[in-house]
Amino acid sequence: MTTIVDSPVTSSLDIRPLQPTIGAEIGGVDISQPLEPAVRDEIRAALLRHKVVFFRDQELTQQTHESFAREFGPLYTHPGAAKSDPSRSAIHRIAAEDLKKYEKSHQPQPGDDVWDAYHTDTSWRLVPTWGAVLRAVVLPEVGGDTVWVDAALAYEKLDDEVKARLEGRHVTHDYRSALQVTGFDYPIVAHPVVRTHRETGEKNVWVNFTQRPTIIGLDRAESRELLSAVIDQYRRPENQVRFSWRPGSVAFWDNRATVHYAVRNYGSTPRLLERILIADEPQYTDL
Ligand code: SIN
Repeated sequence: MTTIVDSPVTSSLDIRPLQPTIGAEIGGVDISQPLEPAVRDEIRAALLRHKVVFFRDQELTQQTHESFAREFGPLYTHPGAAKSDPSRSAIHRIAAEDLKKYEKSHQPQPGDDVWDAYHTDTSWRLVPTWGAVLRAVVLPEVGGDTVWVDAALAYEKLDDEVKARLEGRHVTHDYRSALQVTGFDYPIVAHPVVRTHRETGEKNVWVNFTQRPTIIGLDRAESRELLSAVIDQYRRPENQVRFSWRPGSVAFWDNRATVHYAVRNYGSTPRLLERILIADEPQYTDL
């Protein structure tokens, strides 16, 4: 089984697991207010244990959204962040209409593999961001859920033969064309396909299927075959938690332990969420 990190004995928080290994709803805290250190540590412990945590009925502004995220590390400004307010540079608008425009201008090329959009954030960077806090702003009346996958459970469920073939392999994620539109240049980097989470010690399988993943050192067919085995595990409901947004909902996830997928079943109804990414420590560049 996957490792469970013990939460400190407390508290004021009401932590309700949603699935056995992934997802918990946290009540009993107003995250628009500065957090007591013990409460912050408890949220962090819950996040390590449950990988993604959810808060309901919060009244965050952009400013308090940033203050909450900053409790857990320095904020990272994504070069592609379309800013609604230049003084709030870490806020990244995730708007349905922008996604549509992006997709229109980044159609798959002939011969490209097209995968379901399970992804991690900033896997194109040498040191990907470790956490993300996503806040509902405008929601469709129904639909537009987000799914998170327990990447350790996905790893555990792979066949032993596939695990052996993935061991020591690295995957590249190519995000250059999207970055170049924003005037940002970054080389392609590779990360281990199987990563060990440095805080929980769990092994997980970590691939971004939105950025043309390629496993280094294999021919195209074998890379595709192994990536298919990975995405098959991401797709299994047993390895997932699915969250239905409501006004006032906030999700906070550990980007090193999960991949996620936005369910696009709301037609042309507007949907806007705002995301803040939390940077990782530079000394962990090898992870
Ligand atoms: C994201 O991919 O970071 C946002 C997920 C969503 O839009 O549901």
